[in-house]
Amino acid sequence: MEILKMEHLSKIYGKGETAVKALDDVSLSINKGEFVAIIGPSGSGKSTLLHLLGGVDRPTSGKVYVDNTDIYDLDETQLAIFRRRQIGLIYQFYNLIPILTVEENITLPMLLDEHKVDQKQFNEVVRILGLDNRLTHLPNQLSGGQQQRVSIGRALISNPSIMLADEPTGNLDSQNSEEIMDLLKMFNKTYNQTLIVITHDERIALQADRVISIEDGKISKDEVIHP
Ligand SMILES: Nc1ncnc2c1ncn2[C@@H]1O[C@H](COP(=O)(O)OP(=O)(O)O)[C@@H](O)[C@H]1O
Ligand SMILES: [Mg+2]
Repeated sequence: MEILKMEHLSKIYGKGETAVKALDDVSLSINKGEFVAIIGPSGSGKSTLLHLLGGVDRPTSGKVYVDNTDIYDLDETQLAIFRRRQIGLIYQFYNLIPILTVEENITLPMLLDEHKVDQKQFNEVVRILGLDNRLTHLPNQLSGGQQQRVSIGRALISNPSIMLADEPTGNLDSQNSEEIMDLLKMFNKTYNQTLIVITHDERIALQADRVISIEDGKISKDEVIHP
């Protein structure tokens, strides 16, 4: 079943002589529960693509459908709600809020959404992430691997149907990388969460169901490697 569809998506940053065409007429369909790796050289448009899929930025032209909803047809308020409820986003440098504790960072999306935190679900998420005894710590009191677990917790707390990760292990050593990927894969398999990971690491790309290569803002290759 298709969960994500992009049609003729283009993104141009800037105007006139300094304009950069970051994405050039990309069309793509992704099924629910798929684990997709996106690879390609630096500057090829990978992060731009992920942001457009997640409702973080608006395309210059083209459409993004999530569960058949045209997300850029939504107004800003509706788009923000869509993002908080449907999309989990993970970045290379964690993007945690330095003055908030681990617990506050994880529950922030729920509070922004005026949703009560489901304590049972919260406990389950922090247990799986191994953060039970770190809840009152601040981000700078944690290792890189732990900080990335917090950002995964924050992304998971609202049960998103789609998890988008932009080089999630780019700042971690190989053992932490493996642990973070195992967590993401576990949520992908257990909850049928659609997982899209940008990576430079071939070992990670080879774990995906499907590998999409981006070059110069276009899809240059799209291969199912684990049917
Ligand atoms: N906010 C921005 N303003 C102007 N140019 C940008 C912006 N974000 C990205 N770009 C440019 O768009 C192109 C694609 O960038 P990006 O999607 O970040 O590539 P990747 O993630 O593959 O490294 C690059 O040439 C980059 O410099
Ligand atoms: Mg990038």
